[in-house]
Amino acid sequence: MSINKEQDFGTPASAASQLVTLEIDGFQVTAPAGTSIMRAAASIGIEIPKLCATDSIEPFGSCRLCVVQIEGGRGMPASCTTPVSEGLKVVTQNQKLADVRRGVMELYISDHPLDCLTCSANGDCELQDMAGAVGLREVRYNPVETHLNAAKDESNPYFSFDPSKCIVCSRCVRACEETQGTFALTIDGRGFDSKVSPSQNQAFMDSECVSCGACIQACPTATLMEKSVIDHGQPEHSIVTTCAYCGVGCSFRAEMKGEQVIRMVPHKDGKANHGHSCVKGRFAFGYATHKDRITKPMIRASIKDAWREVSWEEAINHAASELKRIQAKYGKDSIGGITSSRCTNEEVYIMQKLIRAGFGNNNVDTCARVCHSPTGYGLKQTFGESSGTQDFDSVMKADVILVIGANPTDGHPVFASMMKKRLRQGAKLIVADPREIDLVKNSPHIKADYHLKLRPSTNVALINALAHVIVTEQLMDEDFVNERCEVASFAKWETFIAQEHNSPEATESITGVPAADLRAAARLYAKADNAAIYYGLGVTEHSQGSTTVIGIANLAMATGNLGRVGVGVNPLRGQNNVQGSCDMGSFPHEFPGYRHVSDNETHKLFENAWHADLSSEPGLRIPNMFDAALDKSFMGLYCEGEDIAQSDPDIQHVHAALRAMECVIVQDIFLNETAKFAHVFLPGASFLEKNGTFTNAERRISPVRKVMSPLAGYQDWEVTQMLANAMGYPMNYSHPSEIMAEIASLTPTFAGVSYEKIDRLGSIQWPCYDEESEGTPIMHEQTFMRDNGKGLFMLTQYVATHEKITPKFPLILTTGRILSQYNVGAQTRRTDNVAWHAEDRLEIHPHDAEDRGLKTGDWVGIKSRAGETVLRALISERVQPGVVYTTFHFPESGANVITTDNSDWATNCPEYKVTAVQITKVSQPSEWQEKYHAFSETQLDLLEQGINNG
Ligand code: SF4
Ligand code: SF4
Ligand code: SF4
Ligand code: FES
Repeated sequence: MSINKEQDFGTPASAASQLVTLEIDGFQVTAPAGTSIMRAAASIGIEIPKLCATDSIEPFGSCRLCVVQIEGGRGMPASCTTPVSEGLKVVTQNQKLADVRRGVMELYISDHPLDCLTCSANGDCELQDMAGAVGLREVRYNPVETHLNAAKDESNPYFSFDPSKCIVCSRCVRACEETQGTFALTIDGRGFDSKVSPSQNQAFMDSECVSCGACIQACPTATLMEKSVIDHGQPEHSIVTTCAYCGVGCSFRAEMKGEQVIRMVPHKDGKANHGHSCVKGRFAFGYATHKDRITKPMIRASIKDAWREVSWEEAINHAASELKRIQAKYGKDSIGGITSSRCTNEEVYIMQKLIRAGFGNNNVDTCARVCHSPTGYGLKQTFGESSGTQDFDSVMKADVILVIGANPTDGHPVFASMMKKRLRQGAKLIVADPREIDLVKNSPHIKADYHLKLRPSTNVALINALAHVIVTEQLMDEDFVNERCEVASFAKWETFIAQEHNSPEATESITGVPAADLRAAARLYAKADNAAIYYGLGVTEHSQGSTTVIGIANLAMATGNLGRVGVGVNPLRGQNNVQGSCDMGSFPHEFPGYRHVSDNETHKLFENAWHADLSSEPGLRIPNMFDAALDKSFMGLYCEGEDIAQSDPDIQHVHAALRAMECVIVQDIFLNETAKFAHVFLPGASFLEKNGTFTNAERRISPVRKVMSPLAGYQDWEVTQMLANAMGYPMNYSHPSEIMAEIASLTPTFAGVSYEKIDRLGSIQWPCYDEESEGTPIMHEQTFMRDNGKGLFMLTQYVATHEKITPKFPLILTTGRILSQYNVGAQTRRTDNVAWHAEDRLEIHPHDAEDRGLKTGDWVGIKSRAGETVLRALISERVQPGVVYTTFHFPESGANVITTDNSDWATNCPEYKVTAVQITKVSQPSEWQEKYHAFSETQLDLLEQGINNG
């Protein structure tokens, strides 16, 4: 195996359609107008030496190593900055050019350490390669002054900056600007004194750097280098796989030495990320081999007992016999399972198959219940399919971007970089969010045209007001509505939305958004050639989450912003496989492909294929499982990859339900919070240890590939299969590709998906109906996916949440995430990412802080109707008065101790984003935190005892 380096064409591809033919070194080459001579030459295998150019960023023309000669032309132009033109005759190699290049290299090398043999980049250094390419054998200069003693900056936990090796090519500076959009680096000083400088001459960790790795990727020398390469040496082979963190689904090359991951390098051909990454996918993979990994199956009779390590056979048989015992005692419906969006499609598919066919009920639910279930519902109703409409690249054609309830720079950073690029090109931005997210004005060269700073829980009123302006000011796209939508539904909706109570003026007192701003934003959205909506959990996690999704769909249909590039409705999915886990039938009422369990034809199809009697009654949703556990009618749970004891709302209720069950089986890589309530622990495999696929927010099915052996011996799909067999329901897959083949055979939208095609194309966006199809980047181009092909307008009456502020609970708590941490933090907390975020803090507006005598760093008690917790304060004007905000990445923060059991009317998605609270200065943890700490310590002791006895 080899490292399979990706070709660097030197400059980015030109998007021009006009073609130009020229001659390079006597060979004819045709390239799009605007292509550099360097790239055109590379396309026919002629490598022109280069240092300051690389194809991920615009050329700069500073090193002069790439000079060429053009017949009839003057001098020696740089081939990276000279575009092709018709009939040019270019010479890339002759003595004169060779002399110039050698001279350039001689200057560079004279101020560069000659330690190639011991350098961490040895064998992967463009400077070294170029010295060889130009035939440099000796250096005649011996400069008095050099940079060889420049001090290293080791402040970043993941990479080192050694300026003694810097050739000041500025590739890093341009990558930070163009690719990442952070502008953290500059070239400071002039001439000999010029040097790369993070922010105001600061250490990387003190600068604005967000550790995305783009500069390291661009650096041609060992100046910016991953510490893992410095520590372990150059990797020797690589395997392309997909990031297991967020819903962007970045493609990476896992660069390996044997079974050790040396580094994760963003894959240039990755269609979701185009060679870019964020700090999580790029660097935070160390959790996979963290000492906390549990690699032996364990069982115990009660959660008061020590764990006992057992063989796989014993654990599986015990789990199966417990589930059967519970069913015999409490009935067939007394057990069920919860899947996770962290699992692969294939794992989710066989898990729901086991539950439906093996357990004999539909008690399967997934964590999407608590995040994007309203997306599934709302988009299915209006458009006919439970998914976003665009690919990510579509944003590069959007003229107006409306971001609602999402924080892309933290939650979906690689997509945010693409969006920021489009905004820097001039697209307009409207942000609707209670909090001042970075896109509002804290990203360099980005400023939202409108920040609609609404009160939490008032999304529906805001969306209705936007629609009201569009309808009453005749800004609709009537042709689109007439041709593509159900006209009767539109007429009804138009009458409803035009009513005065939906006007910006009438809703101002509800949303807090000035009517004039709202009107202007509505006009901006409606009048754009291409307007696109991106939204997140700030839309869905509300008691009216589904209504807001429907309102967003109405807005896009009314303005004709669907069915082409640059527009659309785009849910930004939180976890890596939220889309996939929903597609795979992990909701209690739906088979794979979103078909209702009571639909006769589908029911028969699955009964025949699975050779089982299936229930046509929808099963229990997650919150119903908890209620049923407390009622003693749901007593056994199989939970794979999900940490319900931390992530679900009203956590004390969840804990009580888990305690009430007779058998909780947890399959995970760590003893997570849920496993502390478990009786059977089945060790899981990280994404590096298994084969499968993830489906990202743009419906892109991407390969997950095993780069190391599973630490516990089995991949997760194998464990579920063993449990199915032990339950008496046979499964005999020998590879996840066979599971995908079964999914394709039973699900029309996946019919043309296969591992062979995924490997050939790199990824596939469903729907993919047949063998010929290569997938569908943009949905609903000609017709909507509803049975009659028409989009459906639905009424969206605003109903205030039950969660009201009162003198006792005068503030609204809302939640979100931060770039460096991921979800419940089980993975990222076990990496050096804690250097950026080691605890969750409570953001409080200065006015509210002053009223309570609080300052940054103080301990604050946060009390809601559900419970109480304590966090440290962070005084910030990002939140509005009356609103407090926190992240939820640490279990001891207890953010979900205070969230209530209010939920979306259609899907039960919890109302995480709105909790009425009071905050006060305190000096000690809450009672819950003390109890949690004691319980957690006891459980860790019981684990330790089990490991020591094993
Ligand atoms: S790691 Fe990313 S953000 Fe930091 S300096 Fe490099 S390119 Fe900029
Ligand atoms: S750090 Fe690397 S990319 Fe940046 S200027 Fe120096 S050599 Fe070039
Ligand atoms: S943006 Fe998301 S998918 Fe991409 S590297 Fe970061 S966490 Fe992974
Ligand atoms: S590569 Fe063209 S000038 Fe440096």
